[in-house]
Amino acid sequence: MKIIVTKNYDELSQKSFEVIKQVVTENPFAVLGLATGSTPLGTYALMQSDHKHNKTSYKNVTIINLDEYVGLRKNHCQSYAYFMQENLFCNIDVDEKNCHIPNGMAESLQNECERYSALLQTHKQDLQLLGVGPNGHIAFNEPNTPFDSLTHVTTLTQSTILANSRFFNNPNEVPKQALTMGMKEILQAKKILFLATGKSKAQIVKKMLEKVSIDCPASALLLHPDVTVILDEESASLL
Ligand code: F6R
Repeated sequence: MKIIVTKNYDELSQKSFEVIKQVVTENPFAVLGLATGSTPLGTYALMQSDHKHNKTSYKNVTIINLDEYVGLRKNHCQSYAYFMQENLFCNIDVDEKNCHIPNGMAESLQNECERYSALLQTHKQDLQLLGVGPNGHIAFNEPNTPFDSLTHVTTLTQSTILANSRFFNNPNEVPKQALTMGMKEILQAKKILFLATGKSKAQIVKKMLEKVSIDCPASALLLHPDVTVILDEESASLL
């Protein structure tokens, strides 16, 4: 595991962007596993401006997102489909048919999970980008999710609902369930890029790097052969 500590969020975003750009430059047909949340926003902004100024192309790249809330339409302003559209897809040349996000409105959520797992079998990620929840979740794999789990429906913990309520009018509006890529499917990625920023992540960053433990899903990354962890000084402050 390679750990990089940056001065601040801007530097973290720059380094993270450089890793993604290298993967896409080396392989224009790369499969990128991407995340939502506030952490990757700076990275996505740099991808958009690089595409505009340097013409880095995503035309043949496949994007497979980590997760989606159950019950939000694609055009709901808090759905992850909407987030990706607004914060990345709309300003790069990625082909819509190569962009994949679980459908949280599917009639059968079980079938949707199976469809997504099958997609991940045939499209293994060259790079998987991850943020982390204050309770150690990666994607929406909450504490105690088995490390061999596949895409599944998960019930969000109170900690996650509270953390994500900052994007909604109040905690009651946060969906209680989500579809999430499973731990096994995250760990299948050739390369993992893990980002954490800010004081609120310092405790969990310390915990995940101590030892592999099922109550801290992010600690499973200690088992992966190619992980780059990029932290800012605040999230690295307890190391
Ligand atoms: C989002 C996701 C989540 C977030 C995590 C951190 O697709 O999978 O695991 O990465 O909740 O969110 P932020 O970046 O908002 O702190």
